[in-house]
Amino acid sequence: MVGRLNNKVFIVTGGTKGIGFSTAEMFLKEGASGIITGRGIEAGQSAVAQLAKVAGEEHIKFIQHDSSNEEGWISLFKKANEIFGQVSILVNNAGIAARGDIESTTLEEWRKIQSVNLDGVFLGTHYGVINMKGQKDASIINMSSIEGLVGEPQLLAYNASKGGVRLMTKSAALHCALNDLNVRINTVHPGYITTPMVENSPGLAEYQSSRTQTPMGHLGEPEDIANMCVFLGSEESKFATGAEFIVDGGYTAK
Ligand SMILES: NC(=O)c1ccc[n+]([C@@H]2O[C@H](COP(=O)([O-])OP(=O)(O)OC[C@H]3O[C@@H](n4cnc5c(N)ncnc54)[C@H](O)[C@@H]3O)[C@@H](O)[C@H]2O)c1
Repeated sequence: MVGRLNNKVFIVTGGTKGIGFSTAEMFLKEGASGIITGRGIEAGQSAVAQLAKVAGEEHIKFIQHDSSNEEGWISLFKKANEIFGQVSILVNNAGIAARGDIESTTLEEWRKIQSVNLDGVFLGTHYGVINMKGQKDASIINMSSIEGLVGEPQLLAYNASKGGVRLMTKSAALHCALNDLNVRINTVHPGYITTPMVENSPGLAEYQSSRTQTPMGHLGEPEDIANMCVFLGSEESKFATGAEFIVDGGYTAK
């Protein structure tokens, strides 16, 4: 069977659960091979065991890596190259959320969010472009959020990080386009999705399912975002770069 991502090599950061896991699963089903990363070895091994059932263990590996660690990015690309060859799709998915408004947020809390959501995505994009350029088509997909497009008073630091990802991506995409590097870089902006990030926050899923929040009246599923990532990872999207892809049940259409 010809998949939409046949022979592509991917890295998905934070791929042990939620949107990252679903994206890796969909990439494997479409014929790609690659690596998921995460901080915990146990979670990584268990995710890889599940993903190996989709495509065989030779197609999926786990590498322990905190996405905010620069040295780790250098060795991640080196290992990916040794195992599978040149990476053609990178999903900078790893992210964390915490509540806090402009008065309550401390500098420490602010820096913690930026270190993963913004520094981590910068490092991934930086080493991604350096390692992925020069092939026929390479794609970097940066996971922003509806919270990178509109403000939410209780998500101050998260808003800043996701808005930063949105514009950093445009700058990097322009550099790649103007220099013929053949690396496309786009952002994906999920609305509220049923993942541990949302389900572990009491009452959040119920509140965000209301039609005043999400006009479709229900949350999205991780597969809704994974499908967008397949499109952006494949050459079906070969003319798309520096753009924003919103999948939010109508949240930002209001
Ligand atoms: N779930 C939603 O409603 C939603 C909406 C918009 C955007 N997002 C974004 O989508 C991405 C995935 O979210 P999710 O809902 O699947 O979250 P999740 O918490 O369910 O999963 C996130 C994954 O990232 C990993 N991770 C966290 N920090 C890391 C680090 N420093 N290094 C490596 N891995 C790390 C976690 O261990 C986990 O595997 C995040 O960037 C999030 O901000 C989620």
